[in-house]
Amino acid sequence: MTANAPRLLAFAGSLRQGSFNRRLIHVLAEGARSAGAEVTLIELRDYALPIYDGDIEAAGVPEQVRQLQQLMGGHDGLLISTPEYNGSMPALLKNTLDWISRPTADGGSGVALFQDKVAGIVSASPGPLGGLRSLLVLRDALAKLGLIVVPQQVAVGQAADKLPDYGVLADDRQKHQVHGVGAAVVRHLTRAGVTS
Ligand SMILES: Cc1cc2nc3c(=O)[nH]c(=O)nc-3n(C[C@H](O)[C@H](O)[C@H](O)COP(=O)(O)O)c2cc1C
Repeated sequence: MTANAPRLLAFAGSLRQGSFNRRLIHVLAEGARSAGAEVTLIELRDYALPIYDGDIEAAGVPEQVRQLQQLMGGHDGLLISTPEYNGSMPALLKNTLDWISRPTADGGSGVALFQDKVAGIVSASPGPLGGLRSLLVLRDALAKLGLIVVPQQVAVGQAADKLPDYGVLADDRQKHQVHGVGAAVVRHLTRAGVTS
């Protein structure tokens, strides 16, 4: 890691103990770090957000939203590991992105916090497809916020067998691919001349 290493914010779209995606995000973070990034790995359970409600926002934006906006503003990109719920991304992820996209404390654009930044995405599921469909939805949502999502992505199926612990992916080929997603994000930012 150097002083001008790309800075990436990483989280999984699951809150539960034993989450496969909370295990997998460590693998993705490791790949990005190996490629030279500085990665801030957070747990969304530490930023418990209400479901977006304009009345809550009008009454006073939750402090956790401000913290997440500051984190997003201080990083050059995102690493996300998403579960798949009924063929889509979980409400947790969408809700988190929606809150961050709201106007910032100084009246700036929340959407601007995402724009022209770079994202790498992976998914994990006990099923055979590994949550592949959620990646399509998440990719689209991130692109609509102005992020560049690298084309490399990995959906880890049979996650109960393959992800026995945090940061452990017991399939060398897929581990290499997940690391490749992190490396692609770093490469993209480095080529773009990011010097955070
Ligand atoms: C509401 C709901 C819908 C689900 N739909 C899917 C699905 O469409 N595809 C899939 O592969 N798994 C589906 N699952 C199973 C999840 O992949 C599984 O619960 C997984 O462990 C969630 O990710 P996590 O381990 O990171 O919490 C669903 C689970 C829930 C609770």
